[in-house]
Amino acid sequence: MLVLGIESSCDETGVALARAEGLGVPRLLSHALFSQIDMHQAYGGVVPELASRDHIRRVLPLTHQVMAEAGSSLAQVDVVAYTRGPGLAGALLVGAGVACSLAAALGRPAMGVHHLEGHLLSPFLSADPPEFPFVALLVSGGHTQLMRVDRVGSYELLGETIDDAAGEAFDKSAKLMGLPYPGGPHLSKLAEGGDSAAFKLPRPLMHSGDLDFSFAGLKTAVLTQAKKLGAELDSRKADLAASTQAAIVEVLVKKSLAAMAQTGLKRLVVAGGVGANSLLRSQLNAMCKQRGIRVHYPELHLCTDNGAMIALAAAMRLQAGLETLQHGYTFDVKPRWPLAPTVARSA
Ligand code: KG4
Ligand code: ZN
Repeated sequence: MLVLGIESSCDETGVALARAEGLGVPRLLSHALFSQIDMHQAYGGVVPELASRDHIRRVLPLTHQVMAEAGSSLAQVDVVAYTRGPGLAGALLVGAGVACSLAAALGRPAMGVHHLEGHLLSPFLSADPPEFPFVALLVSGGHTQLMRVDRVGSYELLGETIDDAAGEAFDKSAKLMGLPYPGGPHLSKLAEGGDSAAFKLPRPLMHSGDLDFSFAGLKTAVLTQAKKLGAELDSRKADLAASTQAAIVEVLVKKSLAAMAQTGLKRLVVAGGVGANSLLRSQLNAMCKQRGIRVHYPELHLCTDNGAMIALAAAMRLQAGLETLQHGYTFDVKPRWPLAPTVARSA
């Protein structure tokens, strides 16, 4: 079975072709990506309308590229999958519209996929794929969640951010330091030359006793610190970046370990853009090794948004018998779409 996957939820157009045989882990045949980062950088963040228009320009050339690289033709595609949500409504509509039109033209079924399910399953494409069950730490620009995953389609939310996402904390702090969008990778690079103990920044909700996160206060603390530094900020930027990164990473590591202890599971999967952060990876690796926990990551280039994870998630849902393929081509998108019901919280 050949599955074409199209991702267009934010500022990356991703297309990929995966092959699923029996119940084995699907194989990625080819994938192509166009990042709009350069275009949005001038505005300091994603401009939704520009994002949608650019997806329109990129999606078909990328699709042809993927088919050519795989040595396949569109006529061989069995299912056309697309990101149905969550994400920017206009951007999602481009991928959904193209996927459903393509499926209709080919006489094949189309299938909407949850973006976070794509991230969460993306380590299955790595050289060291996980086994179920596991705890997933989902850390992207819009989400920070800890999830118990028993099998494909079985997701239990253990905790999540009550305000900003970890990626947002990276991006907003980086912006305050005058770094380009998206700030995460830039802040992380700058932090390499800084002292992480230079500034005392808060670790919000670190000792809350639950698995929730909060990063809005950290951003405010970074702003206060930057203002205090005034003209000195330029020369202390690397220290501030290192201190900020250390605060975010420490909370993510502590809560992940707490989730492992709470569930008693011995496998942790880290997915989403912030999963590319090298300090997070090295600290998680070290702490988990001490506790006999295996950590799995997507390949670095599949941490951020891509089409491969959408093709993979569609293929794995089909293998698990979770989807009935339909040849109806009406579609909707879900800009807000929880992957799992929210955790019950006491007032
Ligand atoms: O998963 P993703 O590509 O998009 C969403 O679904 O949101 O994640 C993007 C986020 C951005 O906030 C970006 O700054 C962050 O991931 N990010 C990083 C790193 N690489 C990407 N944050 C910290 N360190 C990195 N190396
Ligand atoms: Zn994402």
